[in-house]
Amino acid sequence: MVIEQIHDTDAELLLECSDHALGYHAFVALYSTARGPALGGIRRYAYLDRAAAVDDAIALARSMAHKSALADLPFGGGKSVIWDTGRAPREALYLAHARVIEELDGRYIGAGDLGTTREDVATMRRLTRFVAGHTEPAQWTARGVVRGIEAAAMHLWRSADLAGCTIAVQGCGNVGAHVARELHDAGASLLVADPDPARVHRITMRYRASAVDPAGLLETTADILAPCAVGGVLDHAVIPRLQATVVAGAANNQLQGRRAADLLARRGILYLPDYLINAGGLMTAGVDLLGWSLNELERRVDGVFHETLRILEEAARKHTTPLAVADRIAFGRLREPASDLPV
Ligand code: NAI
Repeated sequence: MVIEQIHDTDAELLLECSDHALGYHAFVALYSTARGPALGGIRRYAYLDRAAAVDDAIALARSMAHKSALADLPFGGGKSVIWDTGRAPREALYLAHARVIEELDGRYIGAGDLGTTREDVATMRRLTRFVAGHTEPAQWTARGVVRGIEAAAMHLWRSADLAGCTIAVQGCGNVGAHVARELHDAGASLLVADPDPARVHRITMRYRASAVDPAGLLETTADILAPCAVGGVLDHAVIPRLQATVVAGAANNQLQGRRAADLLARRGILYLPDYLINAGGLMTAGVDLLGWSLNELERRVDGVFHETLRILEEAARKHTTPLAVADRIAFGRLREPASDLPV
């Protein structure tokens, strides 16, 4: 195993790790540990090239740092990516990665992510205790997203009651399905889309949702649009065609570039920063690493409602975007050490 530090980066520590004989090649990015250990999932993906893997690791670590800081958790932000070339057996890849994480001795705490299941996390636990992911995050992510949506309704329409609202949900995966359930229970009418017809079928049957062609979902007429699929969906081409009053979803990095937030604001569309309202999944680390009870987790995730409302009100008062307010709070907190440290 060769572990080398890459210096040309704004991350606090960026490591390139490889075991050529095994076919293992990974990058570990610790964006910041000022508030605590850098927490962030382990992505396994068939990247096109080395640069794509490095860029992904750094961008994801940076957004984890901001998400943790905004949620006021005693964690920094990190991420690791395994560049899967299909050469190594899966178990061997994760055991190699566990050795790297163990070497970091708690500066980085890994967790599940795209391509990394609970079984993979269990494999790594054989060699290191620095992997979280015991508590299933998707339902908590969804719960926080729905609290955020309720806060937007409160802010705009003076009632958090979603009965009668039409909400378009992009993506019927782990989080999207829970979002649909919560919104249905709250009395909203749902439009849903996913390229996987079986997933769409399940949601339309269970929650009386109407299916929409995935190609047209973003532009469909709805009060609220909830992107819960992939990142980068809000770009300069799609924003002029959006029909919703509010955009609030779970997907990480929904904006294609910083200018997208201004474009949305100019169109009078209220955009809730993704990393503000999708932090419920990250908060499950409180149970796994800080000894929180499920009641405490519930309380913190439901706190997304008040935090979102506070940010929306401040943005309105200061004639700026909610993203600008959230960024200011997150950047400020990134420099403060957190008080309660992980166990
Ligand atoms: P997932 O992989 O279970 O679901 C994603 C779904 O989106 C899949 O069903 C996929 O077929 C669908 N999809 C892909 N392209 C689409 C398109 N163009 N239109 C409609 N649907 C499309 O992933 P999961 O866990 O539900 O995560 C969803 C998003 O939320 C991701 O962006 C993820 O990064 C983000 N997120 C997830 C968290 C979690 O707790 N799982 C935590 C925070 C963020």
